[in-house]
Amino acid sequence: MSISRTFAARLMALLVIVGLAGCGASSAPTTAPDAPATGAKTYSDMVLCYPQLGAESDWRTANTASIKETAATLGIKQLVFSDAQQKQENQISAVRACIQQGVDVIALPPVVEDGWDAVLTEAKNAGIPVIIVDRSVSADKSLYSTHIGSNMVLEGERAAAEFNKMMPNGGAILELSGTTGSGAAVGRAKGLRNKLNSNITIIDSQTGNFTRAEAVPVMQALLKKYTPGTDFQGIFIHNDDMGIGVIEVLKAAGIKPGDLKIVSVDGTRGGFQAMVDGWFQADVECNPLLGPQVFELALKLMNGQPVEPEVITNETVYYPENAAELLPTRKY
Ligand code: AHR
Repeated sequence: MSISRTFAARLMALLVIVGLAGCGASSAPTTAPDAPATGAKTYSDMVLCYPQLGAESDWRTANTASIKETAATLGIKQLVFSDAQQKQENQISAVRACIQQGVDVIALPPVVEDGWDAVLTEAKNAGIPVIIVDRSVSADKSLYSTHIGSNMVLEGERAAAEFNKMMPNGGAILELSGTTGSGAAVGRAKGLRNKLNSNITIIDSQTGNFTRAEAVPVMQALLKKYTPGTDFQGIFIHNDDMGIGVIEVLKAAGIKPGDLKIVSVDGTRGGFQAMVDGWFQADVECNPLLGPQVFELALKLMNGQPVEPEVITNETVYYPENAAELLPTRKY
């Protein structure tokens, strides 16, 4: 009898303790809402592969810096960085090496849109999530986790709107395009054609491969073929680096700032300087500072959390009116 009374007392005490513990758990969480769940991976566990497509422009240099600086600030375990020198085969080899190494996440800025299916399938089969960064790919969306970057079609449409404003009575323009087959060049060309008024004709379109050096001979050849002012009144240039090459050629040919309507893309310091100097009438922003968002997405993927399938960068158009004031604040 006394044994069973003792047992009952002990049981009661135990129930009270369990009950109190239960109340405590429901009314006062022991972890902050944003703290990672127990066992969740953190930045210090992360091995991220970034097979950069090249170093063709100031935009690209800023993108590389943003990735490297963010990796260092967050203290990730390892950043596996490579430079493919604008060659898709180099990027594919770099991705394969990362799969072999067993990285946690691959963040891929693809040089061109097509030709990724095989290697993306390999990454998927290895269980490594892929974030497509900057330019788009044509591969099926099931082969990668998300895409973060600019709306390149919108950038082309914004450029068209500038020509429509500046050339209300119509005219002719040239187009200096980016890397053939790249999401950036395809999108910008499409956007321009989507929105350009029907009284403005694109009389020629040539690629300068997004580099200053390659834009120079292309513009020189175009000047041999067409007379500025007579045959064409404007130029749409797919990035600021090529724009700076074009300015060199125009200067050498005796053309003055403002003789032609020029719209470029990126919003680099070089582009801002070209607006200050009167060469560009507008610069459509394309933001390379994607590091913080890329790593945030990568951490979510490492922890099996859901991510948006498409993350579009918020961008604008810059004008000469306040270019001098903004130039010192530009980060790239
Ligand atoms: O994909 C983004 C583009 O690539 C930028 O506009 C250009 O400068 C870069 O080379």
